[in-house]
Amino acid sequence: MKERLEKLVKFMDENSIDRVFIAKPVNVYYFSGTSPLGGGYIIVDGDEATLYVPELEYEMAKEESKLPVVKFKKFDEIYDFLKNTKTLGIEGTLSYSLVENFKEKAGIKEFKNIDDVIKDLRIIKTKEEIEIIEKACEIADKAVIAAIEEITEGKREREVAAKVEYLMKMNGAEKPAFDTIIASGHRSALPHGVASDKRIEKGDLVVIDLGALYNHYNSDITRTIVVGSPNEKQREIYEVVLEAQKRAVKAAKPGMTAKELDSIAREIIKEYGYGDYFIHSLGHGVGLEIHEWPRISQYDETVLKEGMVITIEPGIYIPKLGGVRIEDTVLITENGAKRLTKTERDLL
Ligand code: CO
Ligand code: CO
Repeated sequence: MKERLEKLVKFMDENSIDRVFIAKPVNVYYFSGTSPLGGGYIIVDGDEATLYVPELEYEMAKEESKLPVVKFKKFDEIYDFLKNTKTLGIEGTLSYSLVENFKEKAGIKEFKNIDDVIKDLRIIKTKEEIEIIEKACEIADKAVIAAIEEITEGKREREVAAKVEYLMKMNGAEKPAFDTIIASGHRSALPHGVASDKRIEKGDLVVIDLGALYNHYNSDITRTIVVGSPNEKQREIYEVVLEAQKRAVKAAKPGMTAKELDSIAREIIKEYGYGDYFIHSLGHGVGLEIHEWPRISQYDETVLKEGMVITIEPGIYIPKLGGVRIEDTVLITENGAKRLTKTERDLL
C-alpha cells in the first residue's frame, strides 16, 4: 500500500498537483485498506495521506486503515482542510456539485484528473490481490456448478439465482458481484438477462452468468446449458462460441493488445457466419470493480501485461432463438493466460 501512495505522489510532483482528493469507495479502499460505508475521503497533501471519515465510521476506520484517520462532524470541514490548494487532483467520477463547492467554499481554481495514474496502478494485480481473486473465482465455480444442478424444467429463473447467491455467501462471499444472470429460452439472447420470474422450459438454452465479491474483489464466469437435449442449431452456435473462447484463452499473452485478443475470437465467429450476432466486446478487466480496465474490445489498444486479470467471454445472440456465452476470468502470466475460473466448458 505504501508503494501505491509513492506512485501517486510521484505523479503529483510531475503534474504540479499539490493535493489530491479521493472519494470513490474502491479507490479509498485501494489506498487505505478500508472502505467506510458512510463515506470516507483521502486527502494527499504533499507526500502525506490522511483518511477523513464521519464520526460514525471513526472506530472501524481506525482499526482497518493503513493511513492516519481524522474524523469530521460536518462535510464543511473538508473544505477547510483543502483551503489554499492551488491544484487539486480529483477522480473523473467526482460529482459536479462537489467540484462547484470546492471552487466556491475552498477557493480552488484548478483541477487535474488523476484517473490515469490510478488505472495504471490498479490494472496490474499484486500477488496478494491475485490470491484473493482466485478465491473469489473458486466461490463462483462452485456456484455455477450448483446452478447447473439446480436448473430443471418448470423452475423460475429467479429461484435458481436465489439458491446460488445464498450458496456464494455461505462459501464466504460478501455478496454477488452483480445481479445473477439466469437467462433461459428466448431470454438467453439478452446478454444482460438478469434472472426473471420466467419458468425454465424443456429445450431452453440457459445462460448462467455470475460472480462473487470476496474480500472486496470480484470474479466473473458464464456457462450455457440446454435443458434436455440440444437441437442442431443450439449445438452449432455452442460449438462456435466454445472454439472462439478456447482459442482466445490459448492466444492471450503479454505483449499483445486488448484489440488483438478481441479480434482472435471475433474472426472465428465471423468465419462461421455469426459475426453480426457477437454484439459485445470479448471481455473486461476484473478487480475491485467487476468491469474495469483493460476493455478487451476493438477500441482498446492497451498492451496486455503480466498481472492483469481479464475475462474472455465471446457470445452469439440470435433474437427469439436464444444465445450462448462462455466466460472465464483469467490471469495474464508470462506464459500466457491462466484460467482462474475452472468449471468444465464442454457442457453440451
Ligand atoms: Co459475466
Ligand atoms: Co464479464
